[in-house]
Amino acid sequence: MTEIDKPFLEIDGLTKKFPSPGGREPLTVFEDVSFDIQKGEFVCIISHSGCGKSTIMNVLSGLDTATGGAVTMAGEEVAGPSLDRGVVFQNYSLLPWLSALKNVTFGVHARFPEWSKAKVLEHSYKYLEMVGLSNGSEHRKPSQLFGGMRQRVSIARAFAIHLKLLLLDEPFGALDALTRGTIQDELIGIWSGSDQTVFMIMHDVDKAILLTDRILLMSNGPYARVAESVVVDIPRPRERVEIIHDPGYYKIRNHLVEFLAWRSREMSGQAREPGSGPQQPVTVSPARADEDEPSDTSAKPRLTLAQ
Ligand SMILES: Nc1ncnc2c1ncn2[C@@H]1O[C@H](COP(=O)(O)OP(=O)(O)O)[C@@H](O)[C@H]1O
Ligand SMILES: [Mg+2]
Repeated sequence: MTEIDKPFLEIDGLTKKFPSPGGREPLTVFEDVSFDIQKGEFVCIISHSGCGKSTIMNVLSGLDTATGGAVTMAGEEVAGPSLDRGVVFQNYSLLPWLSALKNVTFGVHARFPEWSKAKVLEHSYKYLEMVGLSNGSEHRKPSQLFGGMRQRVSIARAFAIHLKLLLLDEPFGALDALTRGTIQDELIGIWSGSDQTVFMIMHDVDKAILLTDRILLMSNGPYARVAESVVVDIPRPRERVEIIHDPGYYKIRNHLVEFLAWRSREMSGQAREPGSGPQQPVTVSPARADEDEPSDTSAKPRLTLAQ
């Protein structure tokens, strides 16, 4: 494989252990997790809670370090935070002493230091408007905003700084259903009009099918692993009301539900054979499985990835 063919993001043999109190065995949250993401892909990860999704996200962002393994982005090892990679957490992470507007302009200025004040302001307002926060509430500090509004500020900031890798840790949970739908549409608009790569933690299988190119399925911990990469090869643009009529939709949905209900548990707690090394997830395309074939692991893995 040449340098050019190399995936944009490579996660190679990632392991995370947390020390346990009282000299007990450390908790191995996940072990030898490996997967790749291509430039411009929109990939999400789904599992039950506590499997290590946020921990993986923190390692990708450079805010946490793994116990073993490596993460490489565009050929360079990820070490520490960078303005090329940014994460929107479940819990905001805004600077409390700055107004909503200044939280956004601060990020935009750091990302584009050559821009004039006027350009930074205009650009920041574009994204604050997009998330519905330009009616005076942009001058309030995070403590003066409701949870959902704070979350919208951190989404505006992340969208505005045009990250090469946008990391989203279940960021839409605190939003009301209407705002969530609008922001998801904006996210797709921003992503599809750029070469941005998006990696997102999700818990809703229907939203995952609507938004993503690929869904990584993680088995339960301890010793969790990214077991499958499910290809969502439903043509875009996808409409909420129409996608359910796509013949592949329920095949993908059933596959995901079946994994989360059964197989994620069966794999739980199994340490890998010593020395078995990193293992890529099995790629599955449930939408393309033959009609008479059940859409579970017996579906033949296909190695083509939706772009
Ligand atoms: N700082 C920590 N110290 C000890 N255990 C932790 C720490 N952070 C997370 N964990 C444990 O690691 C596991 C994975 O957590 P997390 O990454 O938050 O999972 P998820 O995002 O999938 O819900 C959980 O069992 C959690 O209790
Ligand atoms: Mg989490």
